[in-house]
Amino acid sequence: MTTNNDRLSAADRLKWDGRYAAEGIHWLNSRPRKLLLDYLGQLPGRGVALDAAAGVGVNGLALARRGMHVVALDISQVGLALGRERALAEGLADRWTTAVYDLSCPWFPPHCFDVILNFRFLERATFAAYRRALKPGGWLIFETFIRTQATTTDVDFYLLPGELRTAFADFVIIHEAEVTAVGGRTHQLKPVAQLVARKKEIGD
Ligand SMILES: C[S@@+](CC[C@H](N)C(=O)[O-])C[C@H]1O[C@@H](n2cnc3c(N)ncnc32)[C@H](O)[C@@H]1O
Repeated sequence: MTTNNDRLSAADRLKWDGRYAAEGIHWLNSRPRKLLLDYLGQLPGRGVALDAAAGVGVNGLALARRGMHVVALDISQVGLALGRERALAEGLADRWTTAVYDLSCPWFPPHCFDVILNFRFLERATFAAYRRALKPGGWLIFETFIRTQATTTDVDFYLLPGELRTAFADFVIIHEAEVTAVGGRTHQLKPVAQLVARKKEIGD
């Protein structure tokens, strides 16, 4: 397998491949994230969306069903293959592109996405890459975990309180909140930061 980054963590890839091999159906049958469902009706019904760290792609599939072309990127080939199968089964193959891609070293062309989804994943190098890759007026929908006193491992994968809002302070903020949401496999409530924001139109 080739990826965009030689530093790709084989351990992470194996971990997520194993998880999707064991629990892929559970992930595939889960609903899109509530934050996405809350704004789905306001998002474009055409154009190109990025589902970053898509996993099996349940969030991106919701956009493909609306008519968008979705680019689903993840380090897990197993997760992406499950999403592709689902897209094929739903007749969405022509709106579904996947690539094994390490988002710790992101590069996208400027102004290529109308919507970017980033759910339950944090790689700070993406902040600048998302800003550049969104078209003017494009939507960023971002939700991931916040660091608390109980966070003792992998602390870099957690946002600091206020960090997400500050990182995109130059966008038009439509919704921002720090709330508790059901997290991962344990279904425990965990603190997350949410942001729904649009890149300013040129000249705003
Ligand atoms: C908690 S899951 C979230 C999946 C999906 N976004 C969702 O909300 O259900 C985190 C995802 O990040 C992916 N991931 C981890 N490190 C990554 C990296 N460096 N580049 C791209 N994807 C990565 C994992 O393979 C996994 O699918």
